[in-house]
Amino acid sequence: MISFSKRLLIVLICVVILILVYLTYLNHQDYIEIFDLSYEFKNNRPNISSQKLLDIPFRYLINNEFLCTDENSEILAVFIVTSYFGNVETRSSMRQAFPLEDLKKHKLRRIFLLGTAPTDIYINQDVIEKENEKFRDIIQGNFIEAYRNLTYKHVMGLKWITTFCSNSKYIIKMDDDIVVNMYMIESILMSLNNIRHRKFIAGYVLTNMVPIREPTNKWYVTKEEYPFSRYPPFVSGWFYITNVRTVKNLVALVNYEPYFWIDDLYITGILAAKLKITLYNISKHFTPNSEFLQCCLQDFNKDLYCDINIGPNGGDNNMFYHFNKQAKKCFHGKCKRRLKSIDESCVAEQKMNLGKGLGFVNSLKLK
Ligand SMILES: *[C@@H]1O[C@H](CO)[C@@H](O)[C@H](O)[C@H]1NC(C)=O
Ligand SMILES: *[C@@H]1O[C@H](CO)[C@@H](O)[C@H](O)[C@H]1NC(C)=O
Ligand SMILES: *[C@@H]1O[C@H](CO)[C@@H](O)[C@H](O)[C@H]1NC(C)=O
Repeated sequence: MISFSKRLLIVLICVVILILVYLTYLNHQDYIEIFDLSYEFKNNRPNISSQKLLDIPFRYLINNEFLCTDENSEILAVFIVTSYFGNVETRSSMRQAFPLEDLKKHKLRRIFLLGTAPTDIYINQDVIEKENEKFRDIIQGNFIEAYRNLTYKHVMGLKWITTFCSNSKYIIKMDDDIVVNMYMIESILMSLNNIRHRKFIAGYVLTNMVPIREPTNKWYVTKEEYPFSRYPPFVSGWFYITNVRTVKNLVALVNYEPYFWIDDLYITGILAAKLKITLYNISKHFTPNSEFLQCCLQDFNKDLYCDINIGPNGGDNNMFYHFNKQAKKCFHGKCKRRLKSIDESCVAEQKMNLGKGLGFVNSLKLK
């Protein structure tokens, strides 16, 4: 005979086991919920007269409708660059590195995505309008710049593409504090030739990320904002490549999905999973360490190739320009192969996280 207390213990253990099994099941359900839908949006002509961007009243304060139609020439890729209103210097560095004439030679275009910043003490709206008069490469929405408004900016860029640049073969989304070796773009795009007709997003794929649940953290995510315990795989918003078909699908789904302010997660993770968009990992081109790019800059002086093409500027606003100026000579065949890869030969200290809102984010500025 088993004593009563032993029976009670067994019952208790069973209950605990059942609860654990149930919780695991629930967790699993989160995943099913995220991954088990599939849509293909066809004929979703963008509604140009639409006065809304997700849930906010919307209009363009600055637009450049003719960026992609001013010539009959074929367009290989359009860069949409999320840029904070006040980051005049980083925009300038990118323009200096690759002015419009040079972009056109490579069948590329570039547009900067801005919001408004009525409280910025250094830069006001007049300055931005003058900047645009000179360069004609700014798209500005009427929403206020804020971390929690980043998704508006990102979606504005995608919508803008479907309306004004749907003749481009590829779309490249990037942040303005990311340095890209512009001379490598064409070869990176060539490597995607096999998947270019599919729905895809190519970039640095991040997996097994979890929401930050500490209220004191700047990247705190509440259960209302995101109820599940894990994030789906997603592509870092630092830099990714996609095509117009994919962008049209994303833009169409936006109206059916609740707003989530971590923009790359929302678009390349949550929406992309529902649309069964292929996430293609090209992380070999990336570094999360700005030091590696600094090392490459020094090594360019010794005529060595850099084995990294995309990384953060580490707060050096002119890095984009300096890096590309040096990278140009390698493009013209003047450089030698490295014997040691950059992560073997360069000492790096701080490691930045490629996903916004995912743990340790050091010097991340407002995009
Ligand atoms: C576009 O949006 C406007 C305003 O929301 C609406 O009145 C109009 O019917 C829409 N047009 C199409 C073709 O969906
Ligand atoms: C986001 O933009 C909207 C529209 O401009 C604005 O009302 C809101 O205050 C902004 N959010 C934040 C956190 O500033
Ligand atoms: C992406 O590729 C890198 C190496 O090229 C690898 O370390 C990483 O695990 C890959 N990520 C995913 C999600 O497959």
